[in-house]
Amino acid sequence: MTKPYVFITRKLPKDTLLALDGFVDVEMWPYEEEPVPREKLLEEANKADGLLTMLSDRIDEELLNQAPHLKVVANMAVGYDNIDVGAATKRGIAVCNTPDVLSDTTADLTFALLMATARRIVEASQYIRDGHWKNWAPLLLAGTDIHHKTIGIIGMGRIGEAVAKRAAGFDMEILYHNRTRKLEAEKRLGATYVSFQDVIAKSDYIVCLAPLTNETKGMFDAEAFKQMKSTAIFINASRGDVVDEQALYEALDNGAIQAAGLDVFKHEPIGADHPLLTLPNVVAIPHIGSASLETRLEMAKLASRNIRNILQSKGPEAIVNHDVLK
Ligand code: DGY
Repeated sequence: MTKPYVFITRKLPKDTLLALDGFVDVEMWPYEEEPVPREKLLEEANKADGLLTMLSDRIDEELLNQAPHLKVVANMAVGYDNIDVGAATKRGIAVCNTPDVLSDTTADLTFALLMATARRIVEASQYIRDGHWKNWAPLLLAGTDIHHKTIGIIGMGRIGEAVAKRAAGFDMEILYHNRTRKLEAEKRLGATYVSFQDVIAKSDYIVCLAPLTNETKGMFDAEAFKQMKSTAIFINASRGDVVDEQALYEALDNGAIQAAGLDVFKHEPIGADHPLLTLPNVVAIPHIGSASLETRLEMAKLASRNIRNILQSKGPEAIVNHDVLK
């Protein structure tokens, strides 16, 4: 009997794939930093029972139409906006993701980005490396306080809650907006549910952790930046497409807001000539929210368990489109 075939779109350490040992044939794209070309991905999808994908792989209708055997797409990310979930569901293909294992790690990074932006850490590091540190000065590289300020979290999922927990440790007032109210989290973390408008108007730090959907796409537009305090610091660790980047550029350039810390961009990867990188009040990092070694290995293991469980008709640990299991 032929074994099911699984294609993995990026080089992963072998011991993260133990769940697939023995019962499937596995091929893996041999490069870690180089994405699989579209043509090769289409060719592999045509043969595969399972795909282990990255957030940079586009799994759309065109691909799904050419994947007659495909039963599962396991994304190595909590976000899955790179996958046409509706089209997969129509074809009975399970879409899996990697929640939970990355919540604390991503919250650590989000808070680090907030702190780096507020306290001008990147600028200060560059200052000393460039040999500019000649004297101590009273206001040299003075940033903005974090403690006792107001943080406004847009998207109070597991990562949002983990960020709120960190903010509570800094004695911050915590506002949040989410599709649904989180009463238990409000009690546990001392967070207050308010409208999107109130979050952006009242917060010193506006932190976006909302998933990219039709509703959140472009939600941070010129009007939203206009409503923020001129001292506001905007942090985005969700997806670039929730922001109108031109509007953000203008808000940062004309002083409508103070600074931004960005882990994600509309078209990734961005080049060194991206307009936002010309601004001194931007801290930019290359989509590394969940990138601790421990967590990335856990994510790879969870993605391979998700494939195994679907192909062996066991309940997957994390599935996005539950309907396909009915
Ligand atoms: C995810 O898993 O969706 C994160 O963006 C990865 O850092």
